[in-house]
Amino acid sequence: MTKILRTLADLRVWRADRRGVGLVPTMGALHAGHRSLIERATNGNGEIVVSIFVNPAQFTNADDLARYPRDLDADAEIVAEAGGTAIYAPDASEMYPAGFATCVSVTGVTEDYEGEARPGHFDGVATVVTILLNQVRPDRSYFGEKDFQQLAMIRRMHRDLSLPGEIIECPTVRDHDGLALSSRNSRLSESGRQAALVLSSTLFAMRDHALDNLESPRRLTVMGAVLISANPAVALDYLEIVDPATLDPVDALAQGSRALVAATVDGVRVIDTIELIPR
Ligand code: PAF
Repeated sequence: MTKILRTLADLRVWRADRRGVGLVPTMGALHAGHRSLIERATNGNGEIVVSIFVNPAQFTNADDLARYPRDLDADAEIVAEAGGTAIYAPDASEMYPAGFATCVSVTGVTEDYEGEARPGHFDGVATVVTILLNQVRPDRSYFGEKDFQQLAMIRRMHRDLSLPGEIIECPTVRDHDGLALSSRNSRLSESGRQAALVLSSTLFAMRDHALDNLESPRRLTVMGAVLISANPAVALDYLEIVDPATLDPVDALAQGSRALVAATVDGVRVIDTIELIPR
């Protein structure tokens, strides 16, 4: 039976005598991508706590926050099935006590891409993840590669601030047709979902070309942009090939080089990423 922890005090009592604790931070609306993070966490941890907190500080748009799907019962079922032992579902006041006046801000890796499109978003994520890591003090925390810029930021701040535990990076989970799983996908219409598939299929094509021909990043991104732009329902925001640590665009492909893409489909922001040259 999954234990539901609602307050920091409950969490502290639960955490006190437990060793080997894995943390899977989420905003709820759990799907197979989260399930795979939880399942991965069962490997090596005696206890797995899934945090479910829709973090207002990382939303740049009030509508987006209001429309974010919330269903604790459905989430609790997924957590239990996947092997989670506790859910930490605090109120905002547990995360941001009255008079909260602190912001964790990571420079460099957060500046472009999602950082440019969603000003303030990464400060909100950095702040809440710092709070969660300090509250839970996990031995390991699990983050998906799908939000690759978020992951790069978390790796950086984890090192910079000596935050507790180890950060474990987990591969993107895709639907049978290639679409990267995301809680936002539920807001796509059927035709929007079909249109969004051009993002993953383009990334796969870029990876195949990169592996076969070691083409230049410039040629690959031009090729990718042409493929995506052929679909009028998809408004491409960026398509870039970057160094996996700094996220700076690269002039030549190297191990770990990553393609990052973002577009708007049906008014929904869809992002995806792929490693072009395996490490
Ligand atoms: O990736 C997410 O779901 C969120 O950004 C996170 C890491 C749970 C912080 O709110």
